Amino acid sequence: MKVLITGAAGFVGSHLVDAYLSDGCDVLGIDNFITGDISNLRDARENPRFAFRELDVTKMDERSLADIAESFGTPDLILHFASPASPIDYAQRPLETMRVNSLGTENCCQAALAWGARLLLASTSECYGDPLVHPQPESYWGNVNPVGPRSCYDESKRYAEAFVTTFTNVHGIDSRIIRIFNTYGPRMRVDDGRVVPNFVGQALRGEPLTVYGGGMQTRSFCYVSDLVDGIRACAASDETRGRIVNLGNPEERTIRQFAEIVCEIAGVPLDVDDATPMPVDDPGRRCPDISRAKALLGWSPKVDIRTGLRATLLDFSARLTVTTP
Ligand SMILES: NC(=O)c1ccc[n+]([C@@H]2O[C@H](COP(=O)([O-])OP(=O)(O)OC[C@H]3O[C@@H](n4cnc5c(N)ncnc54)[C@H](O)[C@@H]3O)[C@@H](O)[C@H]2O)c1
Repeated sequence: MKVLITGAAGFVGSHLVDAYLSDGCDVLGIDNFITGDISNLRDARENPRFAFRELDVTKMDERSLADIAESFGTPDLILHFASPASPIDYAQRPLETMRVNSLGTENCCQAALAWGARLLLASTSECYGDPLVHPQPESYWGNVNPVGPRSCYDESKRYAEAFVTTFTNVHGIDSRIIRIFNTYGPRMRVDDGRVVPNFVGQALRGEPLTVYGGGMQTRSFCYVSDLVDGIRACAASDETRGRIVNLGNPEERTIRQFAEIVCEIAGVPLDVDDATPMPVDDPGRRCPDISRAKALLGWSPKVDIRTGLRATLLDFSARLTVTTP
């Protein structure tokens, strides 16, 4: 099978590249490095079944599709993962974020139509906004501020979902949408501003952990290998055609409890700085209802939080050692 992955040099994208290569697929990665890093593809680039193109998905036109078909062959599966994903990243690049989720998604739909390829869109739990329903099932429409500081991401992902759905209705492409809940693991950027890199980096540097707004807000964290297994299962399944599937870990904890576990695994005393208020529109609770993924795919996360955090700490400590003068 030939697989095209957009956002291949990013955190999730690069793990997907490795997984599909180890399944024996030919993989073409596309990335413009806006938030990604070529070093995430270090292993993949050693593999003769991996090809890479530095390309902005919003500029993927008919000519690019012809070039890809000629040099790589016609992809059977497109995984559209390109998009800044951390609040710091999309706050710094709001227009790029809106474009990759609108124009970039349209280009991926056109590619799926032209090649007869299956399409999987990476959407997000941010589509639920600050949810009024708990845990969040796919049927919940969300509670999103359309003009707030996060709307460039939340609303462009909601548009991406609407576009894929409409394009599928009009052209009959074989598509599915996943809504990813907070995922963590090796290769996250140390400075990407999400809670796991923040806490892990601070614990390793011996700094207090920044807990916004007292830390009673809840999150559920999914280890990246569990997410990748869920994505592969969803992409391989005929049952998910035309559907939305939540992927995440339903084990919910407060951010304060999570800070305690990070310090325990890092072997440092709990030291928290909770003077910083909650960012605007940061959700109070977030937890996936994964009944659909369980029923359709037989999928549920397997990696417990301590095991996942140990692997993440090892990866971060190796990178901090290299980058600290
Ligand atoms: N990691 C999570 O917890 C999470 C949660 C929800 C949704 N997601 C979704 O998963 C996807 C990947 O997230 P991530 O955490 O790996 O983020 P990331 O920032 O590490 O990866 C995104 C990648 O997309 C690339 N990219 C961005 N715009 C591009 C463009 N126009 N053309 C080509 N490449 C472009 C970036 O350079 C980067 O390599 C995103 O679509 C994100 O919305 C992730």
